Amino acid sequence: MANKDELTLLEKCRLLHGEGNWIIHGAPRLGIPDFHVQDGPLGLRIPKEHSIHIYDSAEATCFPSPALMACSWDIELERRVGEAMGEECLHNDTGVLLAPGVNIKRNPLCGRNFEYLSEDPLLAGKMGASFITGVQSQGVGTCLKHFACNNQESYRNINDSTVDERALREIYLKPFEIAVKESNPWSVMSSYNLINGFYASDNEHLLLDILKGEWGYEGVVMSDWGGTADYIDSHNHGLDVEMPCFAKKRNKQLAKAVKQGFLSQERVDDSASRVLALAEKVGQAKKPSAPFDREKSHRLAVEAATKSMVLLSNDGVLPLSSYDNVAVIGEFAKTPRYQGNGSSHVATAHLSSFLSVVGDLPFAPGYRLDGEEDLEKKEKAINLAKEKKAVLLFLGLPAIKESESYDREDMLLPKNQLDLFDSLVEANPNIIVVLSCGAPVELPFKDKAKAILLTYLSGEGVGEAVDALLLGKVSPSGKLAESWPLRYEDVPSASFYPGFEGQSLYMESLYVGYRYYLTAEKEVAYPFGHGLSYASFSYRLALDKESIKENETAYATIEVENHSDFPSECVVELYASSPKGNVYKPARQLIGFAKIALSGKEKKETKIEIPYSAFAHYDVASSSFLVEGGIYQIEVGESADSILASLPLEVVSKHKFESKKDACPDYYALPKKGFGDSRNSFLAALGRDVPADKDRKKRPYDLHSTMEDLQGTWIGKTAKKCFFQKMEKDHLGEEEKKMMKEAFYATPMRSLSTGGVSDKLGQAVVDLANRRPFSALWHLVFAKRRKRKS
Ligand code: BGC
Repeated sequence: MANKDELTLLEKCRLLHGEGNWIIHGAPRLGIPDFHVQDGPLGLRIPKEHSIHIYDSAEATCFPSPALMACSWDIELERRVGEAMGEECLHNDTGVLLAPGVNIKRNPLCGRNFEYLSEDPLLAGKMGASFITGVQSQGVGTCLKHFACNNQESYRNINDSTVDERALREIYLKPFEIAVKESNPWSVMSSYNLINGFYASDNEHLLLDILKGEWGYEGVVMSDWGGTADYIDSHNHGLDVEMPCFAKKRNKQLAKAVKQGFLSQERVDDSASRVLALAEKVGQAKKPSAPFDREKSHRLAVEAATKSMVLLSNDGVLPLSSYDNVAVIGEFAKTPRYQGNGSSHVATAHLSSFLSVVGDLPFAPGYRLDGEEDLEKKEKAINLAKEKKAVLLFLGLPAIKESESYDREDMLLPKNQLDLFDSLVEANPNIIVVLSCGAPVELPFKDKAKAILLTYLSGEGVGEAVDALLLGKVSPSGKLAESWPLRYEDVPSASFYPGFEGQSLYMESLYVGYRYYLTAEKEVAYPFGHGLSYASFSYRLALDKESIKENETAYATIEVENHSDFPSECVVELYASSPKGNVYKPARQLIGFAKIALSGKEKKETKIEIPYSAFAHYDVASSSFLVEGGIYQIEVGESADSILASLPLEVVSKHKFESKKDACPDYYALPKKGFGDSRNSFLAALGRDVPADKDRKKRPYDLHSTMEDLQGTWIGKTAKKCFFQKMEKDHLGEEEKKMMKEAFYATPMRSLSTGGVSDKLGQAVVDLANRRPFSALWHLVFAKRRKRKS
C-alpha cells in the first residue's frame, strides 16, 4: 500500500483537487494512476467531450429512477442493479460512480426527488447501502450524495438549511449514517447548501465531528460540482477533494497556503492519505474479460421496473386478459417519460415505449406534451374511447417539470391532461390510468379511474414493465416509498418551502411525510407503504421476546399467506408505535422490512431484526441516541396507516427525559394546517434565534451573491445578456435551456472561478456590482488571494 509520506507537499496537494470535470488525481510517480468519476444514479453518464449539450453522452443502460427503485423495498434487487451499474462502469473506465443520492424527500416539489429514494430514513439508508454494496462488489467506487440537507433545488448554492439537531440526526443524517456504516461508500459528496450557517463543503461539524469522527468514515469527501465555498477553508474543515477544478496551479496555491500557515498540514496529510487509498483501490479493479452484455442489463432494467411499479388503485379491472377492445390514449404511451433532467440523464438507445412493446393497438395521443390545448387531438381521443370497451390512458408530468436546478411550482398535472380525463370519462367510464412522474402529483380523478398504475420514472424498460403488469404476467408488488398527499397544501412544509432567498427553516422538524400525516391524523391520497397486488395476503406476527433492554435485539417472525392462486412478491412492512411519553415522537415509524416471493396459496415466514436502537431518539442534551422506555406496539402493516397485526413489546430504559411540551407545543399536538405558524416551537427546538436574511438584491453584494441577486446591476444584466445570447446560438433544446437558465441565475460569484477563469473574477464582478471599478481592476490585475479566516 502506498504511503502519503512518500509524496512531496506538491504531490499531496495535487491529490486534493480534481482535474477538469471528471478526473481525480492519483500519484502517477508511485504507479497509482489518475481515474475517472462519472454520474449516476439512474445509470452511467459519460458526457461527450466538447459537446455543449448536457444530454450528449455515451450510450448506457437507464435503470429505474431511485424514486421507483425504492418502491421495490427489495434490498437484493437494488444490490443487483448496483452490481450491473458497477460492471458497466468497469467497461467504461469509470473508477467511481457519483451515486446514490439518499437525501430525504422533505417536500414533493423538490426538483430532484426522482433521484432520491424515500421520505423515510431507514428505507432510504438501507436501499442506498445495498446499491453501494452492489456497485463496489465490482471494484468500482460509489459517491454517496448530497451530504446533507439538500432537500430543494431553489437557491441550492446559497440556501441555509436550518434544522434542529433532532431532525438532523433522526431524519436527514440517518440515511447517510446507515449507508456509511453498512456499506462503506468509497466517497461522499458534500452538498451545495449550508447547514445551520456553514457550507456543507466547509462544515467541520458535519465532515469532521460527525462523518469522519463519530461514524469513523475513512473514505474521501469530494465537493459537489462547483460547491466548494472556499477551497482552503473547506480543506481545513474536512473536505478532501475539490471538484471540479480547472485552476492550472491549484496544487501550488494549496502548497503555498500550507507554507503560509493558512492550510493545516495535518488536514492535507489526512486528505492525501484518503485520496491515495481511493486511487489505489480504483486501480486494483479487474479489467473485464468479456464484452459488456447490454441485453442482460436491459433485462435487469425491465425486471427492476416491473418489481417496483405501484398499483395505486384497482376496482378489479386489472389484470386485463388481453388488449382486445382497448384504446390506448396519451402521448406518453408512445413517447414515455422515463427519467428526469440534469446530471443524472442517461443516453440509452434501448428505450421501450408501451406502444413499441404491444404493437399495433388503436392509439390516439390525446394531448400535447408542452401543455398547450389541442382540440383536434382531444376530439380524436374521445372518439376512439367511445368505440372501445376500455381505455388505457397514459398521463404524467412533462420532462420540463422535473429537473435538477429548479423545483416544481405546484403539484399539478398539466391542465390539458386533466381536461382530457374529464372528457374521456364521460365518453367511456372504463379508464385505467398509467401514470409517470418523478414525485407525487394531485390526482383529482383518483376515484373516477378504474385503476391507477404508477410507474414513476421507470428507466428504459418502462414499456415491457407496464405490459407485464397490465396483463398480469407479473403481479404488482411495489409499495410507495413516500406519502401521496391529497393536495399540496397538506404537506407539512407547504407554506414555507423552499424558504425565502436562501433561508430555509425546517419548522416541521421530525414530522416529514407519514410521520406528520399519521401523527396529525391527516388524510392522504395514498399513504406511505401503500401498493396493491393481484394476490391477497394475510399476516401473522410473533415476537421472540416480551421485553427488550439496552444492547439486546428482538426478532419479529412474520408469516405471510398468499390466499390467491396468483404468484406474487410481497413487501412486509414492520412499524413501531410509540407510547405517549415526555419525548415528542411521530405516532409510528418504520423499523424494518423485507420482500418475499410467494407462489399461489403459499405460506412463508420471514424474520426481521429489531435492534434496541430502533426505539431511540436523538437526545440533544447528551448528544447521543437514547431510548425512552415504555410499551411499544410492534406492527405489520400493508401501509403505514393500515396495520394488520400487532404485538406489544416492553422497551426497558434507565433514562428519564423532561417534557418539552411548554417550549415546543406544536411537536406534541401537531397543527393540522402544517407548521407555518410554528416558529416558536421550532426556535425552541433549534436552541437559538435565526437572524432574518438580508435582502439579497441590495448592495453591498459579496462572493455569495448570485447572478439573480445581481440582476438590478449593470454587470448582472450584461452577464445575463451574454449568457442568453450564447444559449440561443447553441440551439439548446427547451429542457436544456430551462435548466441552464435556472443554473445561471443560481450561480454565486465565488463559483465563477470553477469555470477555469481566475480566482479573482468573482471578486471583480462583485466590485463592479458594488460600483467599485478601481477595486475590480485591482483584483483582476494585482490582488493576491484574499486573506483567509483561520
Ligand atoms: C450535481 C451532482 C453531480 C455533479 C456532476 C452536480 O450539479 O449536483 O449530483 O454528481 O453535478 O455532474
